[in-house]
Amino acid sequence: MSDKNRQFRLKSRPTGRIETGHFDFVEEALPEISDGEALVRTLYLSLDPTNRIWMSDMDQYMPPVGIGEVMRGGGIGQVVKSKSGRYPEGAIVSGITGWQDYCVADEGERAMSVLPDGLPVDLPVMLGACGMTGLTAYFGLLELGQPQPGNTVLVSAAAGAVGSVVGQIAKIKGCRAVGIAGGKEKCAHIVEELGFDAAVDYKAADWRDQLVAATPDGVDVNFENVGGEIMEAVMTRMNLFSRMPLCGMISGYNTGDPAMRADYSPILMRRITVRGFIVIDFMEKFAEGTMQLAQWVAEGKLKHRETIVDGLEKAPTAVNMLFDGTNVGKLVVKVADKA
Ligand SMILES: NC(=O)c1ccc[n+]([C@@H]2O[C@H](COP(=O)([O-])OP(=O)(O)OC[C@H]3O[C@@H](n4cnc5c(N)ncnc54)[C@H](OP(=O)(O)O)[C@@H]3O)[C@@H](O)[C@H]2O)c1
Repeated sequence: MSDKNRQFRLKSRPTGRIETGHFDFVEEALPEISDGEALVRTLYLSLDPTNRIWMSDMDQYMPPVGIGEVMRGGGIGQVVKSKSGRYPEGAIVSGITGWQDYCVADEGERAMSVLPDGLPVDLPVMLGACGMTGLTAYFGLLELGQPQPGNTVLVSAAAGAVGSVVGQIAKIKGCRAVGIAGGKEKCAHIVEELGFDAAVDYKAADWRDQLVAATPDGVDVNFENVGGEIMEAVMTRMNLFSRMPLCGMISGYNTGDPAMRADYSPILMRRITVRGFIVIDFMEKFAEGTMQLAQWVAEGKLKHRETIVDGLEKAPTAVNMLFDGTNVGKLVVKVADKA
């Protein structure tokens, strides 16, 4: 166990792309723990588009990360020292680790979830298909999208962590799954490996024609991850009384214009139900969702892929992969090996 804790502390707020200069990379002594606390070593960090939101001071669903604070981030870690009955030494935990080697878990606001022993999947999967991004897909699609057998379910950012799970759950529920993704390789991946029925390559010049061809019966559920002109185009394909779980609008996060002008008239004319959500809205049902996702993974019905970057020091550059589209599936940073 190292006696130093490397940390990324937010130095300034990005106005466009994230740069390493937006952080101070510092080394601190390991934190001391009190009664009811545990020292957790970070093993894997989850990199998420919301990291970019938390760095900004836009109106958001949690307080932004303060200047000088450790960058907020989800992760999986291992308890290395404990003064709490909740956290046995050696246990694997998940929660907010922050972009650092070690964090302190407590039994209150900084509580972490203790994962069961003998997990049948590798730890990064617990951040992806069986973790927060899988749960985002699960609850957003099933609770808000209300897909019925035979419906057409469309999802944007379809080769990513959330989108890849949305399309596969749609197939499990007997729907036609259509994904929008950037580039031929990602489109081939979602159709040939994940079982989507059709893919639309939004980087191709004829993507609007591809969208029409891929949705001959219109769209009943649009799981929206991107916003902007992609959302606007999809809305013109949506059916009467269709549903649109609004999960994310990644195309606006780096531009400083998250509102993104669009023609919203289809919402009125086609009576579309649009509902924004944050996965934590479904926290009380997380155990149920995780069990179901894990079962589908075990049965081979839900395939998953992770893009793993090695080294905590790479976090600020690696997070840009989400905006460049160079990740496939869940993007994680490996920080340390499990003891
Ligand atoms: N509401 C919630 O609780 C919640 C929870 C998790 C995630 N989300 C949201 O869900 C969305 C996906 O997140 P994720 O974690 O699964 O990330 P991800 O899909 O694994 O990665 C982001 C993907 O977005 C695509 N993308 C980036 N910029 C784009 C642009 N300008 N236009 C079109 N596509 C673009 C890229 O794929 P291509 O190569 O295809 O461009 C990239 O791979 C994000 O909007 C995120 O904010 C919401």
